[in-house]
Amino acid sequence: MNHDALLFQDLESVLYTREQLQTSIAEMGKRITRDYQGKSPVMVCILKGASLFFCDLIREIDLPLEIDFMATSSYGSSTISSGEVKLIKDLDRSIHGRDVLLVEDIVDTGMTLNYLKKILMGRGAASLRIVTLLDKPSRRVAPLTVDYICFEVPDAFVVGYGLDFDEKYRNLPEVGILSPRVYAAAEKEKGAEAPHS
Ligand code: IMP
Ligand code: MG
Repeated sequence: MNHDALLFQDLESVLYTREQLQTSIAEMGKRITRDYQGKSPVMVCILKGASLFFCDLIREIDLPLEIDFMATSSYGSSTISSGEVKLIKDLDRSIHGRDVLLVEDIVDTGMTLNYLKKILMGRGAASLRIVTLLDKPSRRVAPLTVDYICFEVPDAFVVGYGLDFDEKYRNLPEVGILSPRVYAAAEKEKGAEAPHS
């Protein structure tokens, strides 16, 4: 897929190209490999957004790691977050005594990870660190330490490389800012709310 593809026409601008994503992910993989020498961490992918990032990242980590998956959704409307997170899919195996790395696509308010961190520490994880492709620190509400970050993004709605708007654009191979005319059109069509409005 190149820049004249249909999906790219809905972007205001491209923030990170395939090459920039892969370079940063390879560096992060090396860092995690160094930091977890002698350990066998459990890498947890938070579905669905982190799935593309997760698949690329774990292939850059030279450790005998294991993988597992979790899925969440937040209660309430898209504009007013209640801070409560609903667990839709839980881990398959116990993480008691394990070194856990939670892998997310983007940290926004921090509520999702704050909630997941509490749950997993409560289950007796030996350690827990947070890994994210993108960080949007300007919107943070919940206190949260993010241990590994590929890129810091401005306060704009971004899509691609796993991140969606209304479940679309996850297959866009690069990360970009969604053109506001897209959510304006979606709003008109079915009364959907603009993100962060
Ligand atoms: P929070 O940190 O609990 O507010 O939620 C983070 C989740 O909100 C992410 O996992 C995304 O699913 C979603 N999200 C936040 N900002 C964006 C964005 O700019 N584009 C797409 N999804 C986003
Ligand atoms: Mg997500």
